[in-house]
Amino acid sequence: MGEEVAVVESEDLTKYYRSGYVFSEEVCGAKDVTFSIKEGEILALVGESGSGKTTVANMILRLIKPTDGKFYLRGEDALGMDRNEYWRRVQAIFQDPYSTFNEYYVVDKELEDAFGLLEEGRNGTYSESEKREIIESTLEKIGMNPKEILGRYPHQTSGGQMQRLLVARALIMDPDLLLADEPTSMVDASTRVAVLNEILRLKEEGMSVLFITHDVAQAYYISDRAAVMNDGEVVEIGPADEVFFEPEHPYTKELISSVPRLYEKWDI
Ligand SMILES: Nc1ncnc2c1ncn2[C@@H]1O[C@H](COP(=O)(O)OP(=O)(O)OP(=O)(O)O)[C@@H](O)[C@H]1O
Ligand SMILES: [Mg+2]
Repeated sequence: MGEEVAVVESEDLTKYYRSGYVFSEEVCGAKDVTFSIKEGEILALVGESGSGKTTVANMILRLIKPTDGKFYLRGEDALGMDRNEYWRRVQAIFQDPYSTFNEYYVVDKELEDAFGLLEEGRNGTYSESEKREIIESTLEKIGMNPKEILGRYPHQTSGGQMQRLLVARALIMDPDLLLADEPTSMVDASTRVAVLNEILRLKEEGMSVLFITHDVAQAYYISDRAAVMNDGEVVEIGPADEVFFEPEHPYTKELISSVPRLYEKWDI
């Protein structure tokens, strides 16, 4: 039997940013980042602020171009794929959800646009009432009241609500890969578990997830495998149990030691 093709696979992804106008400097965002995620698997990318997590996410999302390295979606060179086709198959929940929504449109439009992409892919169409029904039931699934949230503009919506709207959009799109960059950074504690559990449910349905967080406990709660980043590099990668309970790299050990009761916090 041949080996299963990973849903996403990166090979030495590297990004150097140029910064400064007078004395132009190169800043290393990420260096030689290599990982793969199988179908129905959640890989957590854990690291402190500035370690390069969002840089990796933005490369995989094709929002910034790698300086070096490659990545593949189900074996296909991602940078060579049609962008709309790619974004149909790769969806994201961002750290800063306001950056994704157009401030001049009511939030409904962002959800409705998802159907446009779906229709392009399947050559089928959805009636207005079908769209409405799917949108409303999806919002209810993640604990939102459609009557309350639909019709609002982003500035009338809280950060936590925006993040859940992005989860809803991802649910509607049913992508191959979900990229979640600190998806609960603006969500309160009770909703956080709902969002995490919704992501776990998506995984049960076969979705692959790159889950980015600085929170070791969240990473452990949600992931099958984990990669630890420090200064732009992955210093350790492996099954979550091994990375979090038998860390090998000194940096991982230090990171874990700041979370004294890993089990208890998320034992719900
Ligand atoms: N557009 C940019 N131009 C120059 N440097 C950048 C740019 N974006 C990020 N960096 C730098 O790249 C490094 C990695 O940043 P990145 O945003 O990927 O970190 P992160 O792990 O997502 O941090 P956080 O947890 O705070 O979100 C940092 O040193 C950051 O200052
Ligand atoms: Mg970040």
